[in-house]
Amino acid sequence: MNMKEKANICVISFSGRSGGNCWKIAELVGEQFNGRVKLFDFSALNITPCGKCGYDCFKSAESCPYLNDPVYGIYEAVSESDLTFFIVPNYCDYPCSLFFAFNERSQCYFQRKYSRLGKYLSVRKKFIVVSNTDRDNFVSAFRYQVEENIDPEILFLSSRRFGKVSIEGNLTDSEEARELIKRYAKMPPKEEIFFEPLSDSNIDEARRIQREDISTDFADEADTIMELTKYGAEHNCIGDTYAVKLGNKYIGLILLGEAIAWETDPPEMKETPFYRLMGFVMDKGYRDMGLGGYVLEKAIETCYKKYGARPIALGCHKDNKGAERFYLRHGFEKTEYMEENDYYYLRYPDKKPKGEIYEV
Ligand SMILES: Cc1cc2nc3c(=O)[nH]c(=O)nc-3n(C[C@H](O)[C@H](O)[C@H](O)COP(=O)(O)O)c2cc1C
Repeated sequence: MNMKEKANICVISFSGRSGGNCWKIAELVGEQFNGRVKLFDFSALNITPCGKCGYDCFKSAESCPYLNDPVYGIYEAVSESDLTFFIVPNYCDYPCSLFFAFNERSQCYFQRKYSRLGKYLSVRKKFIVVSNTDRDNFVSAFRYQVEENIDPEILFLSSRRFGKVSIEGNLTDSEEARELIKRYAKMPPKEEIFFEPLSDSNIDEARRIQREDISTDFADEADTIMELTKYGAEHNCIGDTYAVKLGNKYIGLILLGEAIAWETDPPEMKETPFYRLMGFVMDKGYRDMGLGGYVLEKAIETCYKKYGARPIALGCHKDNKGAERFYLRHGFEKTEYMEENDYYYLRYPDKKPKGEIYEV
């Protein structure tokens, strides 16, 4: 589907207040599309949460006492859309209650209506979360809204990250946040990410990847990653370095290759051959959207298919807490061993990521 042409877009703000961050984000998302856009402010609608009934809908959907409230109109709008956005705030580290109210009313709407449910689930959905704190609870809650085995696409927006105060509802005053929301709204599915081997012909584009906000103590620059790649090739090491592309845009770099032994390596690495993840960085405009996790897993899968499975080691700077959380989520275990300021993290081939895939 070409989004510039006639797309049916549905945008739902679930915040308990009108006119706050979620609503402003909903409006901004809606403005990005030329097709038919339906915006819903859930808090302004008179929708009754499940309850104050005898659960009659389990016997007959028509017995729901709230059959005439507007929630079914939203389910229909989502089902008829080409793309739906859920804008959900964090209340006490979970999605807000209006999101759950919406979720629960689906019991009646989809009761024994399997093709209706199939159509609803197959609609592509993008989630935007306004949260300074938890992420994991959102990932599991949103799984219910998408087909099985699909990782929900989520953009996490922290007001703090943009120098704003969430309860003041001023997140979209940040130009950087606005740009991120616009980019996310129009972004193709992450399945359209592809890898291009890093070489002299794309090193200039790789240098232009925006990562100045990350110190070189945390992640190497493109030229250093290139040097490491050449060194590996000269020593006949297996492995590859990729420039990560989304459409025409270079959005990251990742180097995963045979681990040449270092003196500082933990004893586990002396017992069996390892790969080492040496360069991994994403453009700052493409973080917090689940792309980094996708890229990491895809790089590991590609490497395993090409060269066979081995455990993977990486070094993560002791102060890089975001990256630490990211790698732990992706099945790496922190060791007590260090190489200068970097802790060694190890992941074994049978270790699966914990399912929550998003960027540091
Ligand atoms: C009851 C309540 C609990 C909240 N708990 C959290 C929280 O645990 N973590 C967080 O980052 N923000 C929390 N917030 C802040 C909201 O996520 C934030 O104000 C957000 O901007 C709300 O969306 P809105 O601006 O569209 O109303 C809470 C807000 C409310 C009203």
